Amino acid sequence: MFYSDELLDEIRLQNDIVSVVSEYLPLKQKGGSYFGLCPFHSESTPSFSVNADKQFYYCFGCGAGGDVFTFIMQMENCSFLEAIETLAKRGGVKLPEPKNAEFFLEKERLNNKLIEIHRQAGLFYYSALQDNKGEIARKYLEKRQISPKIQKKFGLGFSDNSRNSLYLYLKDKGFSNDEMVLSGLIMRDKNGNGFYDRFYNRIMFPIFDLNGKPIAFGGRIISSGEPKYLNSPETPIFSKSRNLFGLNLAKKERPSEIIIVEGYMDMISLYQAGFHNVAASLGTAFNKEHANSIKKVSSNVILLFDSDEAGERAVLRAIPVLISSGINVRICQVTNAKDPDEFIKTYGVKEFAKLIYNSLDHISFQINCIKKNYNLNNPDHKIKFTSEAANLLSSVENTIERDVFIKNVSSLTGVSEDAIKTEINKTISRQEKNFMTEAEKKRLKIRNDNISSAIKKSKGLIEAQRDILYICASYPDIFKEIKKFLSPFEFSEDIYKKMATIIYELNEKDEKILPTKLIQNFDTIEDQRLATEVFAVNIKYNNLEDMEKAINSEVVLIKQSYINSVSSSSSDINEINNLISEISKLKNLDIKIKK
Ligand code: CTP
Ligand code: MN
Repeated sequence: MFYSDELLDEIRLQNDIVSVVSEYLPLKQKGGSYFGLCPFHSESTPSFSVNADKQFYYCFGCGAGGDVFTFIMQMENCSFLEAIETLAKRGGVKLPEPKNAEFFLEKERLNNKLIEIHRQAGLFYYSALQDNKGEIARKYLEKRQISPKIQKKFGLGFSDNSRNSLYLYLKDKGFSNDEMVLSGLIMRDKNGNGFYDRFYNRIMFPIFDLNGKPIAFGGRIISSGEPKYLNSPETPIFSKSRNLFGLNLAKKERPSEIIIVEGYMDMISLYQAGFHNVAASLGTAFNKEHANSIKKVSSNVILLFDSDEAGERAVLRAIPVLISSGINVRICQVTNAKDPDEFIKTYGVKEFAKLIYNSLDHISFQINCIKKNYNLNNPDHKIKFTSEAANLLSSVENTIERDVFIKNVSSLTGVSEDAIKTEINKTISRQEKNFMTEAEKKRLKIRNDNISSAIKKSKGLIEAQRDILYICASYPDIFKEIKKFLSPFEFSEDIYKKMATIIYELNEKDEKILPTKLIQNFDTIEDQRLATEVFAVNIKYNNLEDMEKAINSEVVLIKQSYINSVSSSSSDINEINNLISEISKLKNLDIKIKK
C-alpha cells in the first residue's frame, strides 16, 4: 500500500459522501438518510440510499454499497488508487510522492506506450490516405463531401488492403508484439506466431480522449460490406462505453450545450458546417459512463439521433440515464432525412439551426411518443393515454413545470386539469409507499444476513485471498513456502485462480512479478480493477511472527473453504471422508517464513 490510513481518513473527511454522490445524481432527504435513483442498475423508484452519519451508500435494489472510495471506483470504473487520486484532488488533500509505486509507474508507462502506438498508427493511416493507394478513399470522402481541411483536422486516414503493413511499420518503430496486440490494432493469429492488422480497406477515424490523446480507431468500409463500421476493442486506454467521438473537440468550445449524435459521419458533417459542440456516441447503447464523460464538458444535452424507430428507442432509453446524472436533456428529431449528416447536406445550415432551436424538452417528447400509440378520439384510448402521461408527469418535481405539462395533456384530451393532478398525486404516494415497504423489507434482510456468520466468513475469505496473492507477488522467498501448501485451483474466485496461476508460472521462471504484467492478462475493466485491488491492499504487520500467523490462518481459511465447496457438491462417501481427513490435517499446517 502506498498511502497511510491517516491519509485515507483525511481524504474521506474532505469528501463528504452526500456531496460527492450529489455531483452524480440528485438525492432527496428522508429521515436520517438520502435517497436517489441507483446509478448502478436501472430502476424507477429510488432504492439508493446514502448515510451521511456513517458515510456509506447502499442500494436496496442491487446491493451495491461501500464508502466514498468504492463509490468513485464503481462510478468512474477506476481502480482504488485512481479513486484516491480523484478524491484527494477534489478535497484538496496533497498526496505524498508514492514511494513504492513501481506498479503505478509501470501502468503509466504502458498507457503511454499504447498512446504512442496510436499516434504512430494515426500518422501511418493519414499518409496512406494521401498516397497513390489512397485514391479510392479520397474519392469516397469527396463523395461524402468532407473537405481536405476537415479530413486533416480530424486526422482521417486509410488502411489499405495489405494485411500486415501497420504491423511491419510499428515493428520497425520498435514496439514489441505484446504491446501492439494490447493496443488492439494488431491481432495474433490462431497459432500465436503470426500477426496481422485489425483494420484493412477502411477509412480510419482516430478517436481521442478528453485530453486529445489518440486512444482508438473506428474504420468505415469503403465499398459495401459487413461490418460497415469496425471499432477498436476494449483496451487499457479505451472503452466504447466511456469515450465519445469528437468530445475532445467539443470540450475546447466550453459549450453551454452539447449535441449528441449517433455516427462518426454525423459528427464530422455538423462540425464541418460550423456546429462545434457535437459528439457521437459510437453506436453503443447510451449508458451512465457516457453521461459522466459528457458531464465533464457540459450539463445540457441535445439528443439528435437518427429519425428511424431505432433512433427513437435509443433516445427514450438515453433520457433517464442522462437525467439521473443531473444532465438537462432536450430532444431534436431530424425530419425528411435519415440522419443529421443527410439532413444538413440536403437542407443546409439554416434549416439545421432551426431544427436545433425547436428542440423539445424531454417530457413533451415522451408525451408525443406515448401519444403515437393511441387514437385520442377513442374514449378508451384517451383514458389510457392520460393515465400513462400522468404516470410520466409524476416524475416531474418542479411544480411549475408540472403545471405546464398538465395543461397540455388536459387540452389534448379534454380531461380536466384537476382530474390529472389527482391521478398524479395518487401515483406519487403509491410510489412512496412501495418504496418504503421495499426498503423496510430489504433492511430486515440485510440485518439477518449480517447476523449470519456465512457473510462474514466469505468476506474474510476474499480478503484472505487478496492478502495471500499480494504476499506471493511481493515476497518471492515467502511465496516458495506458501506454494508447498496451496495450489491455484484452491482459490475461490476465477480471477484469483488466474492470478495465482500466473504468479506461479512467473515464479517458476524466476521472473520478477510486476503488477502490470499480471493485469495485462485480464481483458475487462472490471477484472483489471479486481486484479489491481490486490495490490492496493493495506497489509501491516508488526513483526515477522505476526505475519507468519496471518499467512497460516489465511491459507487455512482458503483451503478449508475449498474443501467445503468440493464436499458440498460431492455425493461420494469415500471422497467426503477423504476431504474430512484433509480438513483435520489443516490443524497441523505450518508455514515457516522466519529464517
Ligand atoms: N456502428 C458501429 N458498427 C456498425 C454499424 C454502426 O459501430 N456495424 C456505429 C458507428 O459509430 C456509426 C453509428 O453506429 O457511425 C451509426 O450507424 P449508422 O447509422 O448505421 O451509420 P451512419 O453513421 O449513417 O454511417 P454512414 O453515414 O457512414 O453510412
Ligand atoms: Mn449516415
